[in-house]
Amino acid sequence: MCGIVGYIGPREATEVVVGGLQRLEYRGYDSAGIAIFAPGAGLQLRRSVGKLSNLVARLRETPASGNIGMGHTRWATHGGVTEVNAHPHRDTSGEIVVIQNGIVENYLELKGRLLEQGVQFHSQTDTEVIAHMVGLAYHQTGSLEAAVRQTMGQLRGGNAVVAFCVREPGRLVAARLGNAGGVAIGVGEGEMFIASDMPAILDYTRDIIFLEDRELAVVTADGVQITTLAGAAVQRAPISVPWDPVAAAKGDYKHFMQKEIFEQPRALTDILRGRIDVERGEVYLDDLTLDDAALRKVERIYAVACGTAWHAGLVAKFVIEQLARVRVEVDYASEFRYRNPVLGKDALLLAISQSGETVDTLAAMEEARTQGVPAVAIVNAIGSQAARVADGGPLYLHAGPEIGVASTKAFTSMLVAAYLLGLRLAAARGTLTQAQVREHLQHLVELPGKVAEVLESSAQQCEQLAERFHHATNALYLGRQINYPIALEGALKLKEISYIHAEGYPAGEMKHGPVALIDDTLPVVCIAPQDGIYEKMLSNVEQVKARGGQVIAIATVGDTVLPTKADHTIFIPATSPLLTPVLTVVPLQLFAYHVALRRGADVDQPRNLAKSVTVE
Ligand code: G6P
Repeated sequence: MCGIVGYIGPREATEVVVGGLQRLEYRGYDSAGIAIFAPGAGLQLRRSVGKLSNLVARLRETPASGNIGMGHTRWATHGGVTEVNAHPHRDTSGEIVVIQNGIVENYLELKGRLLEQGVQFHSQTDTEVIAHMVGLAYHQTGSLEAAVRQTMGQLRGGNAVVAFCVREPGRLVAARLGNAGGVAIGVGEGEMFIASDMPAILDYTRDIIFLEDRELAVVTADGVQITTLAGAAVQRAPISVPWDPVAAAKGDYKHFMQKEIFEQPRALTDILRGRIDVERGEVYLDDLTLDDAALRKVERIYAVACGTAWHAGLVAKFVIEQLARVRVEVDYASEFRYRNPVLGKDALLLAISQSGETVDTLAAMEEARTQGVPAVAIVNAIGSQAARVADGGPLYLHAGPEIGVASTKAFTSMLVAAYLLGLRLAAARGTLTQAQVREHLQHLVELPGKVAEVLESSAQQCEQLAERFHHATNALYLGRQINYPIALEGALKLKEISYIHAEGYPAGEMKHGPVALIDDTLPVVCIAPQDGIYEKMLSNVEQVKARGGQVIAIATVGDTVLPTKADHTIFIPATSPLLTPVLTVVPLQLFAYHVALRRGADVDQPRNLAKSVTVE
């Protein structure tokens, strides 16, 4: 969570840092702050509570200027949302400033020690502990690098830290401990950048070096020197990142979420590009380093993920089990490692993550590694931690940057990635004939166009439905089988951006509880494409109507029965039953978006949420 940015070079540091924070605000928006240094003006600290726009307004009144600086956007973990708790934090001398992403798990113990030494604290944050520790160590060692190294050695937890000292005005020191905070170092000509995530710096450079766990970087305008926290030199060449920074801008759309919903046809085209040959009935997942022999050996797959990505895991279970006849278990990553899972041999871990930085998902991958189980990652963010540590290779979504906190295009891309993986496994294991694979691939190539059709045909209707239902206090989403996860996802979308309480339920289970909630004010979204379970869904719709619920049905084009029972019907084109979730979720995204708009909610940055959850 939290976004960090650093800059050193000839440009105006305030502009680079604030611009970078704008691109990272999705990581937290409880407060923001910067520290900029210039020889004449000294250290200029500006902080403010709330969105970055408040900091920008503050900077208009009291500008800050210099060629080196750092900035932070906060998702509060320790200490309330106040200006005093906003980063950067200073040591007692006021000469050292620090920003942090992550959590210092032993901060109470460390703070206790500092208090005994007479250190006075101004904030309730764990980060101020780091500032004071670096300060004290600096006054012993006379070196910022040594002081940060010594301090990091005493921290427990996971974090990314950037530190600056006015006595060493030509350098920033960055360090990383554990998996909780990524540190990307951007290499420019005569200038260097630091950021927790690449979109912050892609306007300036695409040559990026990632710090690994327990590494420290001394960053000057001319370059970077990386060492382990133990002091061993690390040689690492930058990787070149292909992302287009323009894609991270909102363009003509009002919100990133809206833009990303409408980008889905493009994203789904990109994920297929170069990976399938319909005529030959072949799938090429070159990024997957497991060969046919290894894929044949897999007896069981554990899909682990959080939030929306977990819903993608639930769909992946259906798809992979059907196509490749391999058993798939789906786990919340945050639960997985604490239940001491028995993975067994011939298992495969499938981590699914948009950001590739979700700390619980990374920990699940780690758990697999310690049990000798290979991990494959379906991941969007290029070069992210999950992508780097996946030993079966990352299977990239290529969906481009997703900025809206509520995931949309990454979700549908994850579903297609799971389908590709299922087909790849099926080919290796011989569970499908080439003709069957061809048929599946034909459905896949038609999918982006069908998503475009849904967007086109349902956008206005979703707006009208939002107008009708935006005052609701509760909503129920029902689906069965492969569309049950879509009921969960539809409910999550509504809940997270409009703050309406919504529940997703397997439609057949409704009679065991949720039916008690139904009255004539309750919108009930029923996902009922014409698949093997359609007739059962029809009965469930009847049960809702019998109790007066307001049914919004998602139906297949040509269905003449469901519309006579539902109050409102949104149509999706026909597709393979295993691909219906990619189409049924689209109107639910649009509905949630328009409801949130009408309720005046902050669509891209819903309260209390963050896009990359790098704390437990
Ligand atoms: C956060 C985001 C969700 C996301 C989840 C998992 O909660 O708000 O949109 O689904 O993290 O993130 P990941 O990056 O691992 O997919």
